[in-house]
Amino acid sequence: MKEVFGKLADGTEIHRWSLENGGTRLRVLSYGGIVQSLEVPDREGRYANVSLGFDSVEEYVADSPYFGALIGRYGNRVGGGRFTLDDTAYELDVNDGGNSLHGGAGGFDKAVWDVEPFVQDSNVGLRLTRTSPDGEMGYPGTLRTTVTYTLTEDGDWRIDYEATTDRPTVVNLTNHVYWNLAGEGSGSAHDHELEIAASRYTPVDAGLIPTGEPAEVAGTPFDFRRAKPIGADVRTRDQQLLYAKGFDHNWVLDKGRTDLPERAATLRDPSSGRTLTISTTEPGLQFYSGNFLDGTLAGPSGRIYRQGDAVCLETQHFPDSPNKPSYPSTVLRPGQTYRSTTVHSFGA
Ligand code: BGC
Repeated sequence: MKEVFGKLADGTEIHRWSLENGGTRLRVLSYGGIVQSLEVPDREGRYANVSLGFDSVEEYVADSPYFGALIGRYGNRVGGGRFTLDDTAYELDVNDGGNSLHGGAGGFDKAVWDVEPFVQDSNVGLRLTRTSPDGEMGYPGTLRTTVTYTLTEDGDWRIDYEATTDRPTVVNLTNHVYWNLAGEGSGSAHDHELEIAASRYTPVDAGLIPTGEPAEVAGTPFDFRRAKPIGADVRTRDQQLLYAKGFDHNWVLDKGRTDLPERAATLRDPSSGRTLTISTTEPGLQFYSGNFLDGTLAGPSGRIYRQGDAVCLETQHFPDSPNKPSYPSTVLRPGQTYRSTTVHSFGA
């Protein structure tokens, strides 16, 4: 179903699409490809919206910390907002201290996407397309992007990203849902248990730029190899946690970059019994514990969002890869196709 959700200041109509399959209900906006709500049942069969968001376009435009949005051209940070590719230096839009975050101030989350619904066998979905002009936010190359959201007959939400370019560039696309499996507005998500299939993570500096080589998680608060509550170690006196006000780091998935999606993480809410398993082709996962939610925004529930009221699990290549030759490459050249897939599976 397609309906008018609202209008931008220039009069552009923003649509909301509603899909349902396999027990999962998804609502997506043409603005930013935003997941405006995602509803799944708990162990008693009761539905709740498990993603943070807003009820109006105005709120998304004015002040959203990327709630539910598509992120491009580069998920997370590029240090100093600059990189060099094939001996040419590029200057990006700087929107986070001295760095460029999530593609810059006019990233994919602020763009209006063309949206086409489809039905394929027992799957339903939306195909979102957009052409980002050469030089947008400082990135070289005309980037033609297709993002496909599929709800499968099992109720999985699958995202397939594809992009091509006409000049050498860098690409790292992701999605920024804020999860609270007890329901948005229900309070802290730090009682959720999280498991991440990663023995290493990338430590950061004060500006949250990776310092270089990955470090072992063993013996640190970053060890999520066995499921543990997010709140268990988040208050440990650790310089990495002080820099980020909690967890806001890239985990180096043990499986590496894979052709098919493989399991990266599982999140479980003990109170509702809801679980979320994330599988991906990507080599990294940004786990962000909602540190910058500060009670200044309120969601559709009418309740305000405070620190730790949700967590983000963003599948990605590592932050600042364009400046880190030892990291898996984010370079895309003419003639190549960027491909990335992430599957969200729900249970209770
Ligand atoms: C980043 C955080 C940032 C948040 C957006 C996350 O992906 O890692 O540092 O604050 O997005 O608000």
